Amino acid sequence: MNHNLITFDQEQGIFHLKNNEISYIMKLEDEGVLAHIYFGKKVNQYHDHKNYPRRDRGFSGNVPGQEERAYSKDTLPQEFSSHGSMDYRIPASIIQRQNGANLTDLRYHSYDISAGKPVLAGLPSAYVVEENEASTLTITLKDRFEEIYLDLFYTIYNERNVIARSVKVRNLTNQTLSIEKIASMQLDLTNSGKYQDVLSLPGAHVQERQVNREKLSAGIKRFESRRGATSHHMNSFIALMEEDANEFNGEVIGVHLVYSGNHSFELEVDQINQLRLVVGINEYNFSWELKTQQEFQTPEVLLAYSDSGLNKMSDTFHHLLRERVARGAHQYAERPILVNNWEATYFDFTNEKIEAIVDEAADLGIEMFVLDDGWFGHRNNDDSSLGDWFEFEGKLAKGLKAVADYVHAKKLKFGLWFEPEMISIDSKLYEEHPDYLMQVPGRTPSGSRDQHLLDMGRKEVRENIQKQMEAILNTIEIDYIKWDMNRSMSDTYSVALESHQQGETAHRYILGVYELMENLTEKYPKILWEGCSGGGGRFDAGFLYYMPQSWASDNTDAIERLKIQYGTSIAYPTSAITAHVSAVPNHQTGRVTSLKTRGDVAMSGVLGYELDLTMLSEAEKDEITQQIKVYQDLRPLVQYGNFIRLISPFEGNTTAWLFVAEDQSEALLFMARTLASAQPVFNEVRLKGLAEDFLYEDQATGEIYSGSELNQIGVYFPDFYGDFQTKLIHFKKRGN
Ligand code: DGJ
Repeated sequence: MNHNLITFDQEQGIFHLKNNEISYIMKLEDEGVLAHIYFGKKVNQYHDHKNYPRRDRGFSGNVPGQEERAYSKDTLPQEFSSHGSMDYRIPASIIQRQNGANLTDLRYHSYDISAGKPVLAGLPSAYVVEENEASTLTITLKDRFEEIYLDLFYTIYNERNVIARSVKVRNLTNQTLSIEKIASMQLDLTNSGKYQDVLSLPGAHVQERQVNREKLSAGIKRFESRRGATSHHMNSFIALMEEDANEFNGEVIGVHLVYSGNHSFELEVDQINQLRLVVGINEYNFSWELKTQQEFQTPEVLLAYSDSGLNKMSDTFHHLLRERVARGAHQYAERPILVNNWEATYFDFTNEKIEAIVDEAADLGIEMFVLDDGWFGHRNNDDSSLGDWFEFEGKLAKGLKAVADYVHAKKLKFGLWFEPEMISIDSKLYEEHPDYLMQVPGRTPSGSRDQHLLDMGRKEVRENIQKQMEAILNTIEIDYIKWDMNRSMSDTYSVALESHQQGETAHRYILGVYELMENLTEKYPKILWEGCSGGGGRFDAGFLYYMPQSWASDNTDAIERLKIQYGTSIAYPTSAITAHVSAVPNHQTGRVTSLKTRGDVAMSGVLGYELDLTMLSEAEKDEITQQIKVYQDLRPLVQYGNFIRLISPFEGNTTAWLFVAEDQSEALLFMARTLASAQPVFNEVRLKGLAEDFLYEDQATGEIYSGSELNQIGVYFPDFYGDFQTKLIHFKKRGN
C-alpha cells in the first residue's frame, strides 16, 4: 500500500490526501462535524492553521447539541451536509423515517485507509490496474441519534490530478428508510469568489455539448437531466473556473459524474459568498426504499484539479477515461475506419445495395461495414419492430448472415445496429409482453418516434432482450455493435414495484442497462461496442466503462461538428469521439462543404464514412482513398495522442486544435476558417506542447521548424479562399 498518499493526524483530526500534484484536506471539527479545508494544488504539509473562523450570525443556529453560538453548520464548509439540522444550504442527502421525519445530523464515526480502489457493485467507476497505484480513504459518518451510516469514499491515484468520490448509505436501524436524495459528493469552497465561473456542456439533439461559461452569483444554479438519460441537453460534467482562467492558465476543477441517468449538479453561493457544489443522481422523481440492513451505493464522481487552465483538466480526464474507465480488448486498439449505411440508405436497403456499398468500401480501403437500423422484425421505417431482434425475413433476400459473410469475404469487419432498451407497439414483443413497456397502468403512454422504453429494471425484460441478441451474436460473426437509444424517459412507472417504490424506477432502469451491457460485453469480449443515443445523448463517463467509443452526434455537418467535437473534447478523449464524413448537401443543415473539409474534421475523431459510396465520382473515390491512407498513418496520434485546444469555434470565425504524441515526436495541427472575407485578417496560431529543442518537419512541404518556433511564434493560417476551409499540418521530428 502506498501509505504516503493518505494521512490522518489523530491529534489535530486532519485527513490529508496528497500526491505530487494535488492535496485534498478535511478536518474533524468540534462536535465531530467533518469539515472541508482544501482541494487544489499540492500542499506539502498542513499545520492546522486555517481553522474556520467562529462568528455569531443571526438566523444561523448552533451545531445541534452544543451551546456555542458562533459555531454553525449553516456556514461551516462540510464534506457531506446534514439536512434539517441548521444547514439551510443545498442538502447532500434527505433520508426519511417511517414517522415522516427527514432530518439527519451526521457526525464523524470512524475511518479506514486501504490500498487500491473498491469496485462499485453494479455501477461503472474508475478502476486501478495495480493495487499500489491508488489508495482509498473511507470516512464513516453516523446520524447523531439513529443507526444510519454514510461511508464517504475518497480515492487518490499516485500520478493523476484526480480524486474519485462516492457514498454508501447503510441502514442499521430497525426500520425501513426512504432515501429521497443522496448525492455522490459535496464540495464546499470557502475562498469567496475564487471559482467565480462555471462551464457546462448544454445542447440539444444534433447540437450536443456546446460550451457555456457563466458567472456564479448569489443563489442556486442547477445543471441537470430529467430525461432518464444523460441527455443531449445537459452533459453530466461541469468545470469550476477562476474568473481569469482560460485554456492554458488559471485554476480549474473539473467534475464528471460517472452515470448515465438523471443527474444534477447544484451550485449555491451562500450568504457569505461561499460556494457549495452538490453532484449526483437527480432527486427529481427519485426515492429509494432502504430496508433494515440494506445499503445504497451512489454513482461515482471524478474530480480533476488543474493549475494551468482547461486544457490540463481535459488532459487529466482524457487519460483517466481512456486508461482507467474504458475497458476491454479495444481500450487501446486502433479503431477501424467504418462505413455506416444509415445516411446512405436509411431503411431502404437490399443485399444487392449493401453489397455494392461494401464493394466500394473494400476498394477504398475502408475497414468495416456497419448495417444500421432496419434489418430486424418487419422494420421499414421507424414505427415498428423495436424489441424484435430477429432477422426481417425477406428484406435481405439472401439473409443477414449473407451480408456478414460477404463483408468478411471482402476482408472487412462487420458491425450491426441494435436499440436494446426499446419496444414498438407494433412488435411481436409487445404482442407477447405488453407489460414490458414502461407505462402507468390505465393511461396511454406518451409517444416519441413511435417507440417506448422497456422497463429495464426488470430481470425478465433484460433476459428476454439478452437472449434475443445472443441468438444473433451466436449465429452471425459480428465484430462491432452500435447500441442506440432514441427517446427520453416518460411515464416513469414499473409494474414490478410497489406504489411507494415508484421513485426507484428510473435508477433501476439504468442499473438494468448497466447489467445487460456488463453481461454482453463480458460474454462477447472481442466485439467493439459503440454507444449512441440519437447521436450523443448518452455520451458520458458511465457508458465509456462498457463501450470505449460513442457516436458524438447525428449532426454530420463538418462546420457544426467543429463546435460539437470541440465541446466534447473538454470532457472526453478523442478515442471515444466518433466522426463520419457524410454526403453534401448535408442532410441536417443543407450545407455544402468540400470533401477535404469533411475529411479533415472527421479525421480529428474516430473516422468513419456515412454516405452512399456507389454515388461517388472517380475523383471523390481517389480523394477518399487518400484520406484513408493519411488517417491510417495518423491514427495512433489522433486516437491516443494528447489533444490540445488552441482556438475556440465558439469565439469567432476560426478554430484550431492540436494532437501531440506522448513522446513529442510528432504533432497534427488542425485549422479551420468558417466564413470567407474579401479583406481577411491574417489569422495565426501558436502551437503548444512541442519539445522546444526538437526540429519538426512539415510532412507536406518539407519545411523545418524548431519546437520553440512553433510554440512561441506559431504559424499563419493559409490564405484560404471560400467558406468552410480547413487544413491539416503533420509535423514529424527530424532525426533522432
Ligand atoms: C439514431 C442514430 O444516432 C443514427 O446514427 C441512426 O443509427 C438512427 N438512430 C437509426 O434509427
